[in-house]
This record gives sequence, C-alpha cells and structure tokens, in this order.
Amino acid sequence: MIDSSAGKNWAVFLSVMLLILACAVVWLSTVELVDANIIRPVRHSVQFAYPLLLLAMLARPLQQILRKPWTAKLLRRRRLIGVAFAGAMTAHLLLIAFRFWYTPELTYPTSNLVIGGGAYVLLYLMFITSFDGPTRALGPKKWKLLHRVGLVYAALIFAAPRTLDEISEFEYLKLGVPMLIVILVRLVAWQQSPRRDS
Ligand code: HEM
Repeated sequence: MIDSSAGKNWAVFLSVMLLILACAVVWLSTVELVDANIIRPVRHSVQFAYPLLLLAMLARPLQQILRKPWTAKLLRRRRLIGVAFAGAMTAHLLLIAFRFWYTPELTYPTSNLVIGGGAYVLLYLMFITSFDGPTRALGPKKWKLLHRVGLVYAALIFAAPRTLDEISEFEYLKLGVPMLIVILVRLVAWQQSPRRDS
C-alpha cells in the first residue's frame, strides 16, 4: 500500500514530466524532425525546471524573513516543489536521450556529460530521499548535507557563467539574474538568523 506522501510525490513527479513530454511531442509533430527543432524542447524542459529550483531555494529564507501564511505554505510544499523539479529534469534527460537516439552522429563534450551526469546522480538521490522511509534511514544531518550539495550543484550548472563574455548576454542573464536575487534573499535570511552567531 503506497502512503499518501509517496503517492503525492509520484503524482507530482509523473504529471510534471508527462506535461513537458506531451508539449514536446505536440511541438515535434508540427515541425520537421531535424536537430534544430529537437533541441528546442530540450532547452524548454530546463526553462520549465529552473523556476522550481529557485522556489525550492527560496522557500525557507522567505519564511524566515517574512513569516507570512503564504511563505509558511510554500515551505510546507518545498518537498513537492523539489519533486516537481526532478520530474522536469527527467523530461530534460529523456529528451536528450531522444535527441542522441534520433541523430546518433551528434557529439557532446565529455566534460559536460560528466558534470551533467553527476548532477543527475545527486538529483535522483535527492528524489529518493524525498520519500519518508529513505529520509528516516539517512538521518537529518546526512539528508541536509545531500540536499544542500545537490541544490548548490544544480544552481551552479544553471547560473555559473560559462565564459566572461557570456555574462552580458541575455541567454545568460535570464538564468544568472534570478539566481543572484535568490542568493541575496538567502544572505538576508542568514544575516537575520539567530544561528548565525552559534
Ligand atoms: C548528462 C546530462 C546532460 C546533458 C547531456 C545535457 C544536454 C543539454 C543540451 C543538448 C542542451 C541544449 C543545448 C543548446 O541549446 O545548444 C542543454 C541545455 C541546458 N541544460 Fe542540459 N544536459 C544535461 C544535464 C543538465 C543538468 C543536470 C542541468 C541543470 C541542473 C542542465 C541545465 C541546462 C541548461 C540551463 C540549459 C540551457 C537552456 C537554455 O538555453 O535556456 N542540463 N542541455
């Protein structure tokens, strides 16, 4: 018998993943199946995922600073937001797999594969430990460390500039500026937090 929180996790994970894949299928059924078209849903899948990552990073600091009913609700929903992020990133992975299957002559830098692959290992460890049993088994300290490292790693892939020239380009700013705002909010919460002096 699947418990309610596990049921909710799977419902959110699968519905986000299937929603993105359904949009990709509809898009690809209306265009010529060439790489220039296939790469668009690959990009859009992470553009769908990114706000979920930012919300998961904002939930606790916003509650610490504002202490409003909506920030308390957002914090209660943080696990499901993280699970939704995992669903969107699984769509990214499946669309990448489709792209390489459809155009096998495509190459991809090994370093990106290793870095991206590492992020997926952390992502699925965070997803597994979003279920009650594995969370209890891991214990609060290791859970916190895993989820902190996983969030920072994903944030770095999204928001770390690839080259210095890129910093002024819109393609980078659309990712970098929201992350900068989130980091500033987290800093304010840390500044205000009583644990800062402990
Ligand atoms: C092995 C793993 C991965 C592979 C092979 C991969 C591959 C790709 C490809 C082919 C694109 C489109 C690139 C282009 O526009 O030319 C892309 C875009 C992107 N991916 Fe991934 N990816 C992987 C993992 C990840 C992970 C784990 C993250 C974040 C945590 C991520 C974040 C992004 C971002 C931010 C973009 C750019 C989206 C945009 O243009 O707006 N990727 N990825």
